[in-house]
Amino acid sequence: MPINPVSVVVLAAGEGKRMRSNTPKVLHPVAGRSMLTRVLDTANALSPQAIYGVYGHAGDTVRSACADYTVSWVHQAEQLGTGHAVAQALSAIPDDHQVLVLCGDVPLIRATTLQALMAQADGAVGVLTVELETPTGYGRILRDADGTVIGVVEEKDASPAQRQITEVNAGLMCLPAGHLREWLSELDTGNAQGEYYLTDCISQAHAQGVPVHTYACPDPWEVQGVNDRAQLAAVERACQRRQAHALMRDQGLALADPDRFDLRGSLQVGRDCFIDVDVIIEGDVVLGDNVQIGAFTQIRDTHIAAGTRLLGHCQIEDTHIGEDCQVGPFARLRPGTSLAKDARVGNFVEVKQTQVGPGSKINHLAYVGDATLGAGVNVGAGTITCNYDGKRKHHTAIGDHVFIGSNSALVAPLEIGNGVTIGAGTTVRDNIAADCLAVDDRRPRQVDGWRRPGESVVDRHDSDDDSTAKGVR
Ligand code: UD1
Ligand code: CA
Repeated sequence: MPINPVSVVVLAAGEGKRMRSNTPKVLHPVAGRSMLTRVLDTANALSPQAIYGVYGHAGDTVRSACADYTVSWVHQAEQLGTGHAVAQALSAIPDDHQVLVLCGDVPLIRATTLQALMAQADGAVGVLTVELETPTGYGRILRDADGTVIGVVEEKDASPAQRQITEVNAGLMCLPAGHLREWLSELDTGNAQGEYYLTDCISQAHAQGVPVHTYACPDPWEVQGVNDRAQLAAVERACQRRQAHALMRDQGLALADPDRFDLRGSLQVGRDCFIDVDVIIEGDVVLGDNVQIGAFTQIRDTHIAAGTRLLGHCQIEDTHIGEDCQVGPFARLRPGTSLAKDARVGNFVEVKQTQVGPGSKINHLAYVGDATLGAGVNVGAGTITCNYDGKRKHHTAIGDHVFIGSNSALVAPLEIGNGVTIGAGTTVRDNIAADCLAVDDRRPRQVDGWRRPGESVVDRHDSDDDSTAKGVR
């Protein structure tokens, strides 16, 4: 680390026209977090004296999206170039600081790379570079015969020979504030874009004998900028790959395919967890040991204890799932749900704001909302808690070892005692005491010789339009 205190300037004034979006460019998310807050997190990891954010458009939106961060905001009313942008922040920065310039639209830069850059600069100038096979669009690093950096030339100002140079300016650099102040004051707009170029400071440093050091970024994705949706998608994939590999390496997570895994938040896993393809993890998710997640599942802000299996196609949000449970396929667990040990929730079941006791089962086609279920409850297929009267939500309390027959409607508020049995197809409107049977024993009425409107019995049997059968007849 350099001895000089560091002030970080994050450039974020560009409009981002090519995104064709109403959202300011730097607020577009990469792996669930805005590019700008990613850069601010990285800046904070360097423990700088201060962070300056240079914004131009949609200042209120940008500032409020970064409300959790300590940033000194600086307005750049007109985008007159990167040199002009840095100058807006510089008046507040003391001469003995190192100024580290970052870009709000270069989100994957690592703190370790910036530390290496500043160590390399050693109080003088440091330029982060990258070798690109196709350097089109970037500023090229100019060196003399000895290899000393003498300047940076922008693509649009470069001669055909200079355009052959594949060592480019990544756009991130650090410079001593005192010198930078002087260099910026001498910039002019005599270039192809009519802008104040920060990069022109490099030739000034060279002219004054201030050493210019470079640090070659080992991973080109770290310095990939985002100007359009295609680059945003590419950076998203790179970030996802980085996260997937970190999870496999650091936490021993087994991923069926690291290229088909999306983490938009944080994931902590125990030993021997497995995640199948096309799973999306959002918010803060924790998995215990030996948890298996089936394909095409989305999990947000959820804790899943050891030994639990999620089959495919589940939607899980803000839920706590105990040990050795089985959920899915096609289950939806909505906020406020908890499943105790050994519980089961099967296909086409929706559970909301409900505590399911140990060993209880809701295996098929049910809606259970605003309820508590004791231990060993069996909820039959087609059971519905009628929790909503059109205005308010009501609670259903179900005791231990209750057996609910298929297609029952439980009209809340309702209390069902321990050991109750509910016959299939029962609409339960009143509380039921422990160990009783609730049954709706209205039998279907049989009407003999029934004809459907306009139909004779003969018509009905004819209607199965099967020509071979007709041939036999
Ligand atoms: C800049 C560098 C170029 C480098 C490239 C890497 C200059 C002159 N050129 O070029 O050498 O290879 O980055 O990506 O610095 N910004 C402002 N205010 C302004 C202008 C820009 O805040 O007035 C911000 C932009 O929002 C962006 C960053 O500065 O985050 C870089 O600006 P951009 O116009 O993209 O620079 P390039 O022309 O790509
Ligand atoms: Ca530009």
